[in-house]
Amino acid sequence: MEIVIVPGPEDTGVVVADVIAAAVHGGARTLGLATGSSPLTAYAELARRCAAGQVSFTGMQAFLLDEYVGLPADHPQAYARFIRDRLVRHVDLDPARVHGPDGTAPDVLAEALRYDAAIAAAGPIDVQVLGIGVNGHIGFNEPSSSLRSRTRIKTLTARTRQDNARFFGSIDEVPHHVITQGLGTICEAGHLVLTASGSRKAAAVAAAVEGPLTASCPASVLQWHSHATVVVDEAAAAHLRDADFYRYVLEHKIGDQGY
Ligand code: GLP
Repeated sequence: MEIVIVPGPEDTGVVVADVIAAAVHGGARTLGLATGSSPLTAYAELARRCAAGQVSFTGMQAFLLDEYVGLPADHPQAYARFIRDRLVRHVDLDPARVHGPDGTAPDVLAEALRYDAAIAAAGPIDVQVLGIGVNGHIGFNEPSSSLRSRTRIKTLTARTRQDNARFFGSIDEVPHHVITQGLGTICEAGHLVLTASGSRKAAAVAAAVEGPLTASCPASVLQWHSHATVVVDEAAAAHLRDADFYRYVLEHKIGDQGY
């Protein structure tokens, strides 16, 4: 696992965009996309590079991490719509090749299984972008999620519903249930890139990177993956014990090690 500490949120976006662009240039065909505010600087940077002709997503496909149960794809807070508005419409990724679980499927349990199988059939995902919740969740894998879980229905914690209420009119409008890729599903991606910024995330980042591998902090599963990069700004890195070592590693890379 590599920990990249940069000054601020804009810088996290540049590093995450660097990782994705390098993967695309290296032949990546499939991206895993996260929603939430954490990856927005990366998506803006990718849009800029795409417009400048520095990267192209033509012919690629992408899979979303999760979706709220009960929200149609065009609902303002649906993750399908979020990714369309915040990334897809600003780059040359074919919207028909951007997939997510259908939160309005009549049988959401079957839909979760279908989506998991669709990822397995099209995958592996080359680069999976991840944010992190203040309780250490990735995707919507709340604490207690099995470290080998597959795509399934999860019940949101009160904390997560409260955190995400800022995007809705009121907390009562935040769904209680979601379909999320499982931790086992996420870990099948070739490269996991988790990004976080701001002091609110500092405790979760420290638990994920330096705490025990535990279902109590689902993001700690990155410690078990063969290729994981954690891109954080100074505020989100504030609780990392070994921050100086991570900076030293970054400054002393041999040749073009990349991320
Ligand atoms: C949501 C999403 C996650 C995201 C997390 C953090 O619950 N399901 O994928 O990482 O919130 O969101 P933010 O980046 O807005 O803090």
